[in-house]
Amino acid sequence: MKKNILITGGAGFIGSHVVRLFVKKYSDYQIVNLDALTYAGNLENLKEIENAPNYVFEKGDITDEKFVPALFAKYNFDGVIHLAAESHVDRSITDPMAFIKTNVFGTVNLLNAAKDAWKGNFEGKRFYHISTDEVYGALENDGTFFVETTKYAPHSPYSASKASSDHFVRAYHDTYGLPVVVSNCSNNYGANHFPEKLIPLAINNIKHKKPIPIYGKGENVRDWLWVNDHARAIDIIFHNGKDGQTYNIGGNNEWTNIDLIRMLCKIMDKKLGREQGESAKLITFVTDRAGHDLRYAIDSSKLQRELGWKPSLQFEEGLEKTVDWYLENEQWLDNVINGAYQQYYQQQYANR
Ligand code: NAD
Ligand code: DAU
Repeated sequence: MKKNILITGGAGFIGSHVVRLFVKKYSDYQIVNLDALTYAGNLENLKEIENAPNYVFEKGDITDEKFVPALFAKYNFDGVIHLAAESHVDRSITDPMAFIKTNVFGTVNLLNAAKDAWKGNFEGKRFYHISTDEVYGALENDGTFFVETTKYAPHSPYSASKASSDHFVRAYHDTYGLPVVVSNCSNNYGANHFPEKLIPLAINNIKHKKPIPIYGKGENVRDWLWVNDHARAIDIIFHNGKDGQTYNIGGNNEWTNIDLIRMLCKIMDKKLGREQGESAKLITFVTDRAGHDLRYAIDSSKLQRELGWKPSLQFEEGLEKTVDWYLENEQWLDNVINGAYQQYYQQQYANR
């Protein structure tokens, strides 16, 4: 029997990889992509599958209390994979309310719609909430890792909003028996990453010989995972994860920001035929991010042990692939930088 799967935030960075994977891999699923097309949503990410018979795009806001239940009534969803969110920490510092609205209220609105539509008949149903390692707070440079039982200690409005949404998801499981699963992932990188985030921003600036802004001294550590490996983990957890469980997903791949950017500069010099060392001259240390978390590092052994997932790529290889993608898809990057992507799709969906 055909299954109807709702994916929220499918026009964004990670969501578009998940939508493409599911549409191509599961011809017996109808994939409904619900996305508000905020600044971060870009339907160009989905060109490859936009005409697939098992794919539908619905423009809409997860905070809309009429639209979301109506969508559940229209499609009778069997499963939800919830990625829609405000995702950028710096924006959460200047506009926290947008994060509370989408990440907290929007998530609860979806939980309510699922609870009301499924009416206690949860056979074959699943609500999968995609979260972040940032809910666990920050680690010292002491070799420790975030595990699934690490106490929540978010520091930014972004991570506080994601932590809050995680708590609501668990509350709906414990209170109403909603069949939920949660995963908390480390920093993703790869194709279609919006150039406000460190790696694509640096690629764009290096290309145009603009300064690369490094917050503070560049000593903060992130655990980088290739986005395709995250999408694979989401597929595995959605199908094989246990109800009520949390799974950590990470690359076991820690880099200080400054070392990462130095490596990226070397790769870009090679690819652009520049003298080695030329791009590194663009590195510019700027005022630190407020409340900047020192280090994130994920222990993903539960996911590896119980569900058999592991990262597939070494970082150097993944970073080269990512640079290649941005250099081969100049139009994608230019359309995002000059805003053309938004004008085009906003007009197309203006009345929806
Ligand atoms: P993104 O910002 O690239 O994409 C977010 C998408 O959600 C966009 O398409 C946007 O239009 C849509 N959206 C935003 N508000 C909406 C609303 N109110 N209604 C409907 N759609 C809305 O984000 P991303 O980096 O792809 O992250 C996706 C999810 O994964 C988020 O929940 C994020 O917290 C989580 N996550 C991200 C990372 C990472 O490194 N990027 C790591 C771990 C977890
Ligand atoms: O850990 C998972 C999280 O990773 C996700 O939940 C978030 O949605 C995602 O945006 C990402 O958050 P970060 O804040 O770690 O990513 P960002 O790319 O913004 O920054 C990575 C590091 O680089 C961080 O230490 C801040 C630093 N930085 C960032 C920018 C944009 C700079 O030094 N300069 C910059 O210009």
